[in-house]
Parts: sequence; structure tokens; C-alpha cells
Amino acid sequence: ILIIAFFLIAAYLIGAIPTAVWVGKKFYGIDVRQHGSGNAGATNTFRVLGKKPGTFVMLFDIFKGWAATSLANILVMQELIPDDKLVLFKLIMGALAVLGHIFPVYVGFKGGKGVATLMGMVLAVHLPAALICLGIFIVVLLISKYVSLGSMIAAIAFPLLLLLPAFHPDEPLLLVFGVLLSIMVVFTHKKNINRLMQGQESKANLPFLGRK
Ligand code: G3P
Repeated sequence: ILIIAFFLIAAYLIGAIPTAVWVGKKFYGIDVRQHGSGNAGATNTFRVLGKKPGTFVMLFDIFKGWAATSLANILVMQELIPDDKLVLFKLIMGALAVLGHIFPVYVGFKGGKGVATLMGMVLAVHLPAALICLGIFIVVLLISKYVSLGSMIAAIAFPLLLLLPAFHPDEPLLLVFGVLLSIMVVFTHKKNINRLMQGQESKANLPFLGRK
């Protein structure tokens, strides 16, 4: 039990690594939470610090979700949990990582919106659905130029996709976690929703499409 608790805490602590804040402070002397949208995520790092740090934060935040979720495999390998509990533990650990990303203990519990970390988690639990969600995110972003809109639609699409026979998960709890986490993502985007409705949300600067 103690070892399992240790793994659960580790999942949270991995998710909580505040990549955007640490990269900004260490290499640029800037806390991204005091600029742009004020969010400690990849999008705001792109916005405030540029392409290179933005890409790094995006990839590392995705990796955090994937790594924390995949820790559950070690629990099975060490026979600490039975095989048939693997997906359940992946879901719990992935969700803890997403919560860690949103409420990071290292920097006053003020983190990001959970999108990249959730993507990492979904990559580890349902690869086909993750890839479709990524596609949906890209299409919405290209059409609307709003990262936040793409994030929310992709997050909501995830549990909906699971309802399709082709994506039906073996573990029904995946649907429950998918619904809860997508509600969470919409919730973390409250300010974005307000800005979108007032036409004040900032558009992404997609160089290959020209400035909008
Ligand atoms: O991943 C977060 C994104 O959906 C919105 O970020 O900085 O535009 O609020 P931001």
C-alpha cells in the first residue's frame, strides 16, 4: 500500500513540474504567469517567449502526462497491482498528473490549464483517440486561430469518440475519466470562454499562414 501511495504521489509531482514557469524564470528571467494570458502553459510560453521555449514546454508537458500515466506499468511489472487494474491505475495516475499541472505544489498551486498533460495521458491510454483529438485540435486551431477553442473542442471530443464502436474502450471507467477531465479543461478555460464570447481572445500567430 505504501509503495502504491508513493507512486500516486510521484504521478502528481511529475504532473506538477511547472515547465513554463521554470523555463521562463531560468532562461529568460520572466514568470510567464505575469504576461500574456497569465497561464503557465505551452501556448502562453509561445506567446510570451517564442517558438523554441514554447515547443519545449509543449513537448515536456505532454511527456509529463505520458510518463506519469505509464508509471502504472511498473506497478503491474512489480506485481504490486493485478493486471486487470492497469488501466484503472493509469487513469488515476494520469488524472493526478493533470491535476498536478493545474495545481503545482512547487509554484504556489498556480499552473496551467491541463491540455498538454491530458494529451500525454490520453496518448498512454488510448492512442487512436489521442491522435484523432490531436487532429481535431489542429483543424480547429487552423480554422479559428484560437488555441483555447481547439483545446476545449479536442478535450470534449475525447469522451464522445469513446462512444463510437471503433473506439469503445475495454475499461468503461475511461469514459468516466474522459468526461470528468474534459469538464475540468472547460473549467480551466473559463476566462478564455469569456474572452471568446466578447471577441477578445488573442489569436495564435501561425507564421506559415500569415499574421491574422
Ligand atoms: O493550453 C492552454 C490553451 O488552451 C489556452 O492558453 O494561454 O491562450 O489561455 P492561453
